Amino acid sequence: MKIAIGCDHGGFVLKESVVNCLKEFGVEIIDCGTNSESSVDYPIFGEKVARLVANGECDKGIVMCGTGIGISISANKVKGIRCALCHNEYTAKMTAMHNNSNILAMGGRVVTPEQAVNIVKAWLDTPFEGGRHINRINLISEIENRED
Ligand code: RB5
Repeated sequence: MKIAIGCDHGGFVLKESVVNCLKEFGVEIIDCGTNSESSVDYPIFGEKVARLVANGECDKGIVMCGTGIGISISANKVKGIRCALCHNEYTAKMTAMHNNSNILAMGGRVVTPEQAVNIVKAWLDTPFEGGRHINRINLISEIENRED
């Protein structure tokens, strides 16, 4: 599995822990930055990760900012992306099961690095349930395809 990962300064500490954990699991990582706690603009990193997932270069993505909100909104602007902001293992499991989310978002000022690693594991370990949820995901895609 190949995972794109990105953050702003508010998510940088989480990214370090998540990258180390994923390496232990033998996951191939494309690190889109940022690479320090110096202030940067989260939409740039959210879009980079989202494009890699949307174009199929990566299977999934993980994004982090201070709250996880701005970077998840940014990632969700890219067609085909279902980015889920999760603050605990329950929501991570549920979004994998029901939304087949292809990007996970977390907040570096909301969860600890230890919690983040557990959230990532829960998200990656949980398969999509399919069934009735497929139609709902198709309805989400239809929203993207509708002209205003
Ligand atoms: C940066 O200070 C902060 O606004 C950003 O990390 C994020 O929380 C935005 O949603």
